[in-house]
Amino acid sequence: MMSMVCNRCVSRTAGLYRRAVIAIKAGKGRAIHGSPVRNTIMPAWVIDKYGSNDVLRFNENVLFPIIHYPNEVIIQVHAASVNPIDVNMRNGYGSASLNMTRDPLHVKTAGSEFPLILGRDVSGIVMECGLAVQYFKPGDQVWAAVPPWKQGTFAEFVVASANEVSLKPKSLSHTEAASLPYVTLTAWAALVNSCGLKKETCPGKRVLIFGASGGVGTAATQLLKAWGAHVTVVCSGEAQTLMNDLGADDIIDYTTGRLQDQLKTRDLFDVVLDNVGGTSEELALQYLKPWSGASYCTLVTPFLYNTDRLGIADGMMRSGITLGSKVVKHLCKGIHYRWGFFTPSGPALDEIGEIVDAGKMRPVVEKVFPFSDVPQAFEKIEAGHARGKTVIEVINPR
Ligand SMILES: NC(=O)c1ccc[n+]([C@@H]2O[C@H](COP(=O)([O-])OP(=O)(O)OC[C@H]3O[C@@H](n4cnc5c(N)ncnc54)[C@H](OP(=O)(O)O)[C@@H]3O)[C@@H](O)[C@H]2O)c1
Repeated sequence: MMSMVCNRCVSRTAGLYRRAVIAIKAGKGRAIHGSPVRNTIMPAWVIDKYGSNDVLRFNENVLFPIIHYPNEVIIQVHAASVNPIDVNMRNGYGSASLNMTRDPLHVKTAGSEFPLILGRDVSGIVMECGLAVQYFKPGDQVWAAVPPWKQGTFAEFVVASANEVSLKPKSLSHTEAASLPYVTLTAWAALVNSCGLKKETCPGKRVLIFGASGGVGTAATQLLKAWGAHVTVVCSGEAQTLMNDLGADDIIDYTTGRLQDQLKTRDLFDVVLDNVGGTSEELALQYLKPWSGASYCTLVTPFLYNTDRLGIADGMMRSGITLGSKVVKHLCKGIHYRWGFFTPSGPALDEIGEIVDAGKMRPVVEKVFPFSDVPQAFEKIEAGHARGKTVIEVINPR
């Protein structure tokens, strides 16, 4: 892999930085023309250890990201968004398996993942492209969700693989666009990859969504409605107006009356997307059409928890045994049981962008915070009861 890293792939800014350092070290008085050394650093929110909100630290001197592979792009972050995964990662959740997947060239310095930049969503402008990048050029307005094993987007610049990036929908501002990639790609991974739903197969399908009023749920509801499915959502009564606006066909308020009594009065479902987990899993599995290819997919899995607690090998084995036994148990009852995981994908974002520009999906931005208030945005996510997404404006658009 290292042989693919040639000097020309390294970013121009990094090149200037190197030249500046060499000249300074040599003690030569020769003037360095071009960007001054300070242009090789950028502001970012970092953590230097795991913990509660006070580990978030604003650092103006984070090293500018570098293109290490020919298929990478540097994006100037205009807006990012906060997801529950950011709060969980701040707490150290998933660190065992994420550290194993981290690319030492990008994240680990001196054997440590710190300083770690959180943030998965970005909407911004391509600043620089690796030599193999054909689909993008500097100046393109793009959106992406950067996977959790890479440095994140609560920074002025981020590096992403071109295959994780897509041209931003023209109809959205950066602030709006940043609210969609991570949650919509997660919904896509669950609905399309795990449950086999797509535009052609959705009409006539009955889908039930638990936890519909949050980031993933609002994205999933809209995707399914754009594809013609019948969507029943489970949310608190206070989110009913929002879910009506997003096109939900049937709304079940889990805060009034017994949920099972309400579900009993409905026809059985073809697909359940579970964004809540816990008791909703057992409940949901009773309301699927047996022996008709029906699927249950949960996003709340013990995979990362197991690897954190038991280590990689034992944790993966424990997860495999748990998943395997559930798959077999429910297959015997004619139901497909699945775990869903966020999957980065530029091509999927291309399709999502078309749906957005066609007016069939809209961002649900609950609150916008300035870049200086990232800790407050984390507090908001940690308090729960999300209605759509919380966005960070890294560059003030006004
Ligand atoms: N596996 C993966 O790769 C992956 C990727 C993304 C997200 N996730 C997980 O998926 C879950 C959802 O993510 P998100 O980004 O959508 O979270 P979110 O934005 O925080 O939304 C969660 C929503 O669920 C609602 N809710 C809570 N308890 C509920 C219940 N018992 N019944 C119905 N609704 C309930 C909340 O509102 P109220 O409390 O007001 O009802 C909130 O609107 C999180 O646990 C997240 O960690 C997993």
